[in-house]
Amino acid sequence: MTSKPQLDGHVAIVTGGSRGIGLALTCGFVARGGRVVVSGRSRSDLDAVVSELGASVAVVQGDVADPAVAEALIRTATERFGGVDSLINNAGVGTFANVADMAAEDWHRLIATNLTGVFLCSKAVIPALKQRGGGWIINISSLAGRNSFAGGAAYCASKAGLNAFAESLMLEVRKDNIRVSTVMPGSVQTAFSAGGDAPEHDWKLSADDVAQVVFDLLGSSARSLPSRVEIRPSKPK
Ligand SMILES: NC(=O)c1ccc[n+]([C@@H]2O[C@H](COP(=O)([O-])OP(=O)(O)OC[C@H]3O[C@@H](n4cnc5c(N)ncnc54)[C@H](OP(=O)(O)O)[C@@H]3O)[C@@H](O)[C@H]2O)c1
Repeated sequence: MTSKPQLDGHVAIVTGGSRGIGLALTCGFVARGGRVVVSGRSRSDLDAVVSELGASVAVVQGDVADPAVAEALIRTATERFGGVDSLINNAGVGTFANVADMAAEDWHRLIATNLTGVFLCSKAVIPALKQRGGGWIINISSLAGRNSFAGGAAYCASKAGLNAFAESLMLEVRKDNIRVSTVMPGSVQTAFSAGGDAPEHDWKLSADDVAQVVFDLLGSSARSLPSRVEIRPSKPK
């Protein structure tokens, strides 16, 4: 007897779903019977996702810090797939420099992507999740949100801010059957940092390892809310 795919009919929005962890999530949703609206800025990366995964995927090109993009993500999920069950706030950038050397524009761009984008997408999705009777908002944060390091002031602050934001949001919306959870990975083997996906980085977590945590969360019992998950390489270099 063949069993139904785990996420049959589930509609997800994955910001930054065209590469790295986001792409692993997009592929994982489709493999489990779900449909996905993917955001990203690069047209060619989005086109590559559609040609690989076909009609189970819809794309919205644009900057996650643009309120119009957040609205377009919800509209696309509703028009193409009939609603939305989960928002995965994954899009993020890392710019690493000492505060004394960091350009103000780099600070603003990082906070806009990693924090304001999460606010905009979360705010936009709440009515759609309520209409569905509940759902999930899952944030891809980082252990850097807990463990600060020199040269990481902007990135660490953005992820610490995300953790705090997510906790408040979780307390606000759980009465509406909306579960908010935050995943905090350590180093992941993606192109997030220059050369970060090269073979000598095999000791890191894979993008699929992080995606698996999200699928495990989605499979948790309706009574439970694992609100924060830390995951790190089992054998650091
Ligand atoms: N890699 C790690 O070691 C690591 C560790 C802990 C946490 N994380 C977090 O995991 C998340 C994903 O990281 P990753 O390693 O998968 O990075 P990645 O491989 O660089 O992929 C980032 C994705 O986000 C999209 N994106 C970036 N800025 C965007 C914007 N302003 N608007 C819309 N989309 C945007 C990118 O597409 P475009 O460039 O085309 O827009 C891409 O699809 C991030 O939040 C990151 O902070 C990563």
